[in-house]
Amino acid sequence: MSTEIESVLIENRVFPPFPNLVKGAAISGMDAYQTMCEDARKNPDAFWEKLAREHLVWDKPFTQIVDDGKAPFYRWFGDGELNVSANCLDKHLGTPTANKTAIIFEADDGKVTQITYKELHARVCQFANGIKALGYKAGERAIIYMPMSIEAVVAMQACARLGIIHSVVFGGFSSKSLHERTVDVGATLVITADEQMRGGRSIPLKSAVDESLEMGGCEGVRHVIVYRRTGGQVQWRDGRDLWMHDVCGNQADTCEPEQLNAEHPLFILYTSGSTGKPKGVQHACAGFLLWALLTVKWTFDAKDSDVFWCTADVGWVTGHTYVTYGPLAAGLTQVVFEGVPTYPDVGRFWDMIQRHKVSIFYTAPTAIRSLTKAAEATPERHPREYDLTSLRIIGSVGEPINPEAWMWYYTNVGGERCPVLDTWWQTETGAHMITPLPGVTPLKPGSCTLPLPGIEAAIVDEAGDEVERGKGGFLVMKRPWPGMIRTIWGDPDRFKKSYFPPELKGYYLAGDGAQRDSDGYFWIMGRIDDVLNVSGHRLGTMEVESALVAHDLVAEAAVVGRPDATTGEAIVAFVVLNRNLPDDSEAETIAKTLRDWVGKEIGPIAKPKDIRFGENLPKTRSGKIMRRLLRVVAKGEPVTQDTSTLENPAILDQLSKAR
Ligand code: WT7
Repeated sequence: MSTEIESVLIENRVFPPFPNLVKGAAISGMDAYQTMCEDARKNPDAFWEKLAREHLVWDKPFTQIVDDGKAPFYRWFGDGELNVSANCLDKHLGTPTANKTAIIFEADDGKVTQITYKELHARVCQFANGIKALGYKAGERAIIYMPMSIEAVVAMQACARLGIIHSVVFGGFSSKSLHERTVDVGATLVITADEQMRGGRSIPLKSAVDESLEMGGCEGVRHVIVYRRTGGQVQWRDGRDLWMHDVCGNQADTCEPEQLNAEHPLFILYTSGSTGKPKGVQHACAGFLLWALLTVKWTFDAKDSDVFWCTADVGWVTGHTYVTYGPLAAGLTQVVFEGVPTYPDVGRFWDMIQRHKVSIFYTAPTAIRSLTKAAEATPERHPREYDLTSLRIIGSVGEPINPEAWMWYYTNVGGERCPVLDTWWQTETGAHMITPLPGVTPLKPGSCTLPLPGIEAAIVDEAGDEVERGKGGFLVMKRPWPGMIRTIWGDPDRFKKSYFPPELKGYYLAGDGAQRDSDGYFWIMGRIDDVLNVSGHRLGTMEVESALVAHDLVAEAAVVGRPDATTGEAIVAFVVLNRNLPDDSEAETIAKTLRDWVGKEIGPIAKPKDIRFGENLPKTRSGKIMRRLLRVVAKGEPVTQDTSTLENPAILDQLSKAR
């Protein structure tokens, strides 16, 4: 583990909670929050038991709370049984929520479709019946590779209803990435669309599925179900390929939910780690659902009258927790958006908030930063030109939000009336962990503030001992929580090694460096491993390196992150070619070739922003690449560190040339 944790500038501005939001909040006032935290600390079992009984509908009530017999493979409510889809849909039938709008779907071209809870329930049941009729059973795995749509939510919910474990792959990932995941989960079913629409352009999805299945190793896939989104041309394999509307066909609109064990896997979602292959993060039905629902209620303080909008794609965990599961379990009306924030113009988000009267808005710092720039360049699309008074809470997720972006968001989007909730969490944590609460927490721009009740976050050193306030260290969770990752699919050893290293006393290691200020507030300082965060998307440097060296021209590659004003971090690749050093014009062409190659291998989000060529890489005499130096070079800063241990110090000059 690296101890090189850079310190950040700590902000002094403090924004107390708004009195109108404190009153009537799910957790109202600092005293109430502290009492809950204290209760959870004194008797965690009683704390979680009460919540799980009150907030979930059980088919068979549990008697066990947390089973740590095989820690860190914790089991929660392990002898209980329920169904997640029934908790998101059936629960509302026979209540006034049944006729409430569940989803306001806005397509890329602006077309709006609304669906009530009752209708959504019927759609999910029909699709589940159709999948069942094809012979699929609980425990099988389905890949979902779909655009943002009501159909994507229906597909995920239908899987949950049948106990089919879904693994959603972001539509921006390449056929190669799709293939890797299809093989790793051992999928028997793929659900996709003909094409997706983004910013007025259609992008094929079905053809990527076809390509991935041709790569071999996916012979277990019996069917590919295709949602017709655009009507674009697709290749068809009879017997294997089926239209979603035909699968639903004449199916009944009720479908008995499978009664599943609390620990039955709900989904597997791949995310990057510090070594090559992405990790299949496995979540369990009951614990995940409980944590998703509680955080919707606590963090967003969601009320029946709210219109909720989380802009994340269902390809990321944020879309799982705060699109498909949390808001539905809470019976909210939510906006689901197919398109991009800049189409048809940079006012799209603000226009949508105005038209749909969104009251809770949740997006990523990278979007805020790019929209800040756009709004300044196009004043007529500035958020102040729109009526955003419906907003009462605005949130941020995915990466640190710098104080400037925080202030812009607070002032221009929130109108200085809405708290900015900087929510820290991860694919592995299932839902929010450290976040302000609207009715509780004084805000400091740039800090994710305090842990939720029940979450024992701390900053420790290499020995697992807590460091003093103001000192940097590793962010850990000292106790398990229901929404936590259960294992890495197919690789329990990697799960233990990555998250529960023996020297840390059994604590969950998040992989982030952080520090606490004198008020106990948490300040996240970035990853401690070789994981990059580009526009809120996690990417392993090793993944990008393996993609690069897979190209014929490349002998060796090292990838580092460089701070970027818009995307948070940008990828810089240092490449040694299998040929002599290219001249300037050749370098340009090769850089483009390699960039496109990485886009094909992983997906466009992984394309290096900057590629540098050298005859070699800076290595120690034992052959270890000195990434620390490459990070300095990538920033364009002079190397002041001692380079005497380098095999070839002169190489640094060569690599300083940006392309
Ligand atoms: C990593 C997790 C959380 C869902 C989306 C990303 C970084 C996330 C924050 C925040 C500072 C943050 C961390 C974390 N991160 N939220 N509010 N402040 N950093 O999930 O892809 O699993 O990435 O994103 O580095 O470890 P993910």
